[in-house]
Amino acid sequence: MNVQNHVYSLFLFLLLSLLLASCSSESQRRELTPFEQEHGVGPVTETVQLGEPDPLLAERGAQLFSTYCMMCHGPGMSRIAPELDHLLGRRSAEYTMNMILNPVGMSRRHPSRTQNQQGYFTSMPYQQLKVEDARALVEYFRMNPVLFAGD
Ligand code: HEC
Repeated sequence: MNVQNHVYSLFLFLLLSLLLASCSSESQRRELTPFEQEHGVGPVTETVQLGEPDPLLAERGAQLFSTYCMMCHGPGMSRIAPELDHLLGRRSAEYTMNMILNPVGMSRRHPSRTQNQQGYFTSMPYQQLKVEDARALVEYFRMNPVLFAGD
């Protein structure tokens, strides 16, 4: 290959990379839908019908909470992570589930999070929880709005 060809293919390569880069950042910058603005970005894209309170589901949520959440959202840990008492008064069930299921996406794309992030030592990790797990956690928050009573 002579020098001219070489320069030409290098140029083509650069052009392609630029194109690809602009495509992917384009999809990142897609405007949030009205649902996403209110209820967060993630796998939950429709209203969740909560129905009658379900103590068994809340119990499962309580177990999940102590395994996956307590280490950051436990009592007296408001410098590690925001306190979650009366959470459902501030956030919808769907927002809460999207935060649990897609914390990284939320922190990158949702205005409520991109502004909030400063001030905490860690970010909220993705823990491979399932939609059913997130729903159980919502039931726990719903039936125990004041977490850690007696603290
Ligand atoms: C490693 C620490 C850590 C763990 C574990 C963790 N979180 Fe978080 N969480 C955070 C941090 C830090 C924030 C604030 C992030 C931000 O502002 O983007 C947060 C934010 C949240 C919010 C948003 C609160 C609000 O007021 O908007 C919810 C809801 C939440 N977490 C629920 C949970 C649940 C439920 C679990 C368990 C499944 C969990 N988190 C596990 C660190 C953690």
